[in-house]
Amino acid sequence: MALQYGYSRSALAMRPSPIRELFKLIQKPGMISFAGGLPDPEIFPVQEFAACAEALRGLGRVALQYGATEGYRPLVDTLVERMALPLGRAVRPEEVMIASGSQQIMDMLSRVLVDPGDVIVVEAPTYPGALHTFRNAGARFALVPCDGDGMQVDQLESVLATCLRETGRAPKLIYTIINFSNPSGACLSTERRRRLARIAAHHGIPVLEDDPYGELRYRGEALPTLFSMAGEGVLFASSFSKILAPGTRVAWAVGDPELIRKMVIAKQGMDLCTSVVAQVLISEYCRRGFLDSHLPKIRAHYAAKAAAMSRALWQDLPQGAATWTDPEGGFFFWMRLPGQDTAEVFTRAVDQGVAFLPGSAFFPEPDETVGPWVDGSSFARLCFTFATGEEIGEGSRRLARSLA
Ligand SMILES: Cc1ncc(COP(=O)(O)O)c(C=O)c1O
Repeated sequence: MALQYGYSRSALAMRPSPIRELFKLIQKPGMISFAGGLPDPEIFPVQEFAACAEALRGLGRVALQYGATEGYRPLVDTLVERMALPLGRAVRPEEVMIASGSQQIMDMLSRVLVDPGDVIVVEAPTYPGALHTFRNAGARFALVPCDGDGMQVDQLESVLATCLRETGRAPKLIYTIINFSNPSGACLSTERRRRLARIAAHHGIPVLEDDPYGELRYRGEALPTLFSMAGEGVLFASSFSKILAPGTRVAWAVGDPELIRKMVIAKQGMDLCTSVVAQVLISEYCRRGFLDSHLPKIRAHYAAKAAAMSRALWQDLPQGAATWTDPEGGFFFWMRLPGQDTAEVFTRAVDQGVAFLPGSAFFPEPDETVGPWVDGSSFARLCFTFATGEEIGEGSRRLARSLA
């Protein structure tokens, strides 16, 4: 009898990641990529990391063993210390857990909060990896539009009311990227942070504050975390992926110990524990002060690239063809091409030898949206961290040709 896989309902509902699919199209020699949100491998602290491997001689028996699902305790202690300032208070170890990337934090949270059909409030635009994970759990999305100051929080109440009217239930979660958002590069203003914390608390809806880019500020003043403004109900997440190296796959979450405990139980069934080798290396890396000296280096390195991209775009793009935001940190320029479908521009750009990500990847589809849908087809995300300075200049000229 022919083999037939009896796929689960959730497997049948899965959609391939639009970004991963596009990557297949841009693997051509000579292609300049502003597409992936990748750190620059030139700035990876390879020597320092190799020096930390020395610690395995003493810690090898721990590092090579299974570890606690909550995380390697010395690394948790380091994070407790580092996070006290941005989180506005001393946090306790039971409020912290380590995860295999912040992607896993979203997955754990989906498993403990989301039943198929439940609604998650997201920004429009938002990080497609989050949409992918939430979608796998059967979530639908209520969208809050964004502008240069992040989520338009003044629309949140009406989005919540629409959700209640259309589904009979409140959303299970509000997902937000408050600093240098992927993709928009925007930071939520302090006033909006305050208002968001207030509205979420008033309705009793938990918030995932996803902050992998917060430490990558190149200009301006740091803004207070949502966590520091809210009494409870905010799960803060960050990661070593952008500030150190994504290959480590180490991230952390800080929140209500009750929720953290549930997530730990979910994680036990996912991967038992995050790679202990990676956690030991990162813990050693932080203990030796390498992270503190690395951060100013990458900030300067990426600030120069952001400035190079800004200069190149101003110089090359035909006047009136595009508008974009000049980000104060993070990885991305968010561009609007009025009257254009950026999926079509993408094809022309790839022919010219430059790639970016079309905006529609950052918005849920109409059939999974509760309430008003937001069309992202005239937007494009350009990552400035991965390409070299020279490639940024040449890529911008190629982009201009594809718009001409
Ligand atoms: C906003 C946001 N959250 C989470 C992630 C996933 O990060 P990690 O490598 O920690 O899984 C990314 C990666 O690009 C991101 O941009």
